[in-house]
Amino acid sequence: MLDIKITKTTHPKPLPDPNTLVFGKTFSDHMFLMDYDEGQGWHNPRIVPYGPLPFELSCMVFHYAQEIFEGMKAYRTAQGKVQLFRPVENARRLNSSCRRMCIPELQENDFVDAVNALVSVDKAWVPSQPGTSLYIRPFIIATDNGLGVHASKRYLFAIICSPVGTYYPEGINPVKIYVENEDVRAVRGGTGYTKCGGNYAASIRAGERAVQQGYSQVLWLDGVHRKYVEEVGAMNVFFKVGGKVITPELSGSVLPGITRKSCLELLRDWGIPVEERLVTAQELFDAAQGGTLEEAWGTGTAAVVSPIGCLAWGEKNAAISDGRIGRLTQRLYDTLTGIQWGTEPDPYGWVLPIE
Ligand code: PLP
Ligand code: COI
Repeated sequence: MLDIKITKTTHPKPLPDPNTLVFGKTFSDHMFLMDYDEGQGWHNPRIVPYGPLPFELSCMVFHYAQEIFEGMKAYRTAQGKVQLFRPVENARRLNSSCRRMCIPELQENDFVDAVNALVSVDKAWVPSQPGTSLYIRPFIIATDNGLGVHASKRYLFAIICSPVGTYYPEGINPVKIYVENEDVRAVRGGTGYTKCGGNYAASIRAGERAVQQGYSQVLWLDGVHRKYVEEVGAMNVFFKVGGKVITPELSGSVLPGITRKSCLELLRDWGIPVEERLVTAQELFDAAQGGTLEEAWGTGTAAVVSPIGCLAWGEKNAAISDGRIGRLTQRLYDTLTGIQWGTEPDPYGWVLPIE
């Protein structure tokens, strides 16, 4: 059990208008911090008013990006209670990222306690408008000063929170995605399966180009053969082809999404055939041409379940589900969000109420 010292703000900010929330732009009143020093381990867990921290410009994270993060949400139920969704999964993935990036791991229950404590202090910041939630961003940065390339001996674990609405301006309406042929995001043996900032830095150029051309994000191809689809900027992907659901396997360069895992569990429970395997862009466009690409959607904490209405690849264009949300996509969206916001029963024990 972490012994968290809590210092509350003397200047609480006004809560933002829940109707005009922009993803990740407003932050709650407090943040969680905990230090790591070699020889001492993780220590000094504390909740303090949200605000800037001083760092020397030689701080290692600024140069070599030894950094990892998580993304999760707190949801307000119709009864006014607040709950988390599968927080232990985030703790496990954080530790998997830690191992890859030579960052000291956290105890799973310390991670969950820290999230719990912060959300509990900032409970008023969990919005209640339909579709809104409190996005939680835990992260660890290397804080040693110096320009040598090696693992830092000091780290900061921090959690900040941001009330959010939908990730895409489209909301639950289908997004347009194109297959990226030029840049690659990750390769097997690299860091693709971790949530490290560097993966996202590498993806920004393609993302900017996509937006300039009227698309929401890109669909990445594998970095070796440049033919297997992997995932979208901030989502895993699923395709319903001829009655079967196909999602790219976790090859090492794909992020093991918690929403992906949850959707797979739901689909299997519903008796819908699911394949986790390599899938080429060619296979998808052939299916589209043959009329068997029935639905496509992305999954992610921020993006929830987002229908893909249009997929482009060079000159080729596939319109999916007539640009509407497909039936299975809708069912997944309804079930998952129902469990998250507490309007549906939670037979899997996925939600954790905040005290
Ligand atoms: N893939 C990438 C690259 C992501 O950034 C995310 C978002 O976290 C996901 C997939 C989906 O993961 P999760 O469902 O755990 O949020
Ligand atoms: C999330 O869905 O939690 C993410 O981390 C996506 C983010 C990169 C905006």
